[in-house]
Amino acid sequence: MKLRYVLLAAAALVATPFAAQATPDDDLQHYREFFMKKFPGVPLEEFANGVYAIDATARENWEAIEEFPPYEPDVEAGKVLFETPFKNGKGYASCFPNDGIGVAQNYPMWDREKGRVVTLELAVNECREANGEKALKPFKGEIAQVLAYMAYTSRGNITNVEIPKDDPRALEAYESGKHFYFARRGQLNFSCAHCHFDNAGQLLRSDRLSPALGHTTHWPVYRAKWNELGTLDRRFKGCNEQVRAKALENQSEEYRNLEYFLAHMSNGIPLNGPGARK
Ligand code: HEC
Repeated sequence: MKLRYVLLAAAALVATPFAAQATPDDDLQHYREFFMKKFPGVPLEEFANGVYAIDATARENWEAIEEFPPYEPDVEAGKVLFETPFKNGKGYASCFPNDGIGVAQNYPMWDREKGRVVTLELAVNECREANGEKALKPFKGEIAQVLAYMAYTSRGNITNVEIPKDDPRALEAYESGKHFYFARRGQLNFSCAHCHFDNAGQLLRSDRLSPALGHTTHWPVYRAKWNELGTLDRRFKGCNEQVRAKALENQSEEYRNLEYFLAHMSNGIPLNGPGARK
């Protein structure tokens, strides 16, 4: 196992060198072109399907799975949770535009007042707390179910994550997420980009590495390996641990900024969550 990592590391390029002064708009264009050149013939919206956009054999299995989606009961449970009033009589709908229906494409969102990135997960938990309820536990279970329902009502909506140009702190948060993505870490000294940019499409043991483009469009995900639904932070944690780096706290500033960067890269791609993965 270790040897394979070493070989891959040797084959990996230094983190893809894009202009340091690039704006988020420049980045979006560059990254999109990078992946569309790397995988010619794959239409932009297909990148929402991760590795199944680029691996025909894996895609066949996945399509069979999607005929009886393993996340379906979670979407239903999420709808019930979403519609059940809090003890104070209010509900999730009171915290979101359009009553929380079909809004996932706008997250993460820049919170001007508090000067921070708000993910949909954070917004859900802060809604609870503002209404006298406890935050839901991270990674799986009820938080994933509520998010699954909200994702489901957003299917087909186009990722539209904004980095407001008139608030330098928003750009800073974006840049810090970008830095996180390209920084080497862990005993294996890998950045996220080593696997999901430079080596996207290559095999790592039995896994084909998916492109970073589209990585945020389909959460939460029902993973066969988890045998349940999990959140994007659960995946971040797993990918950190894969290179034997220490995972960060759920919804930490670093992970929220990382999601901000990654989701912005997927602007223009339709949402299709929740997803199913190996
Ligand atoms: C050593 C290689 C490696 C590194 C480094 C790595 N990942 Fe992954 N990642 C994987 C593998 C393997 C999978 C599962 C197959 C796939 O979808 O790529 C995966 C899956 C993912 C997925 C899910 C894709 C989907 O379609 O649902 C996301 C999101 C992700 N990684 C993000 C990251 C982030 C963010 C980092 C940096 C913190 C990172 N990864 C670092 C190997 C890596």
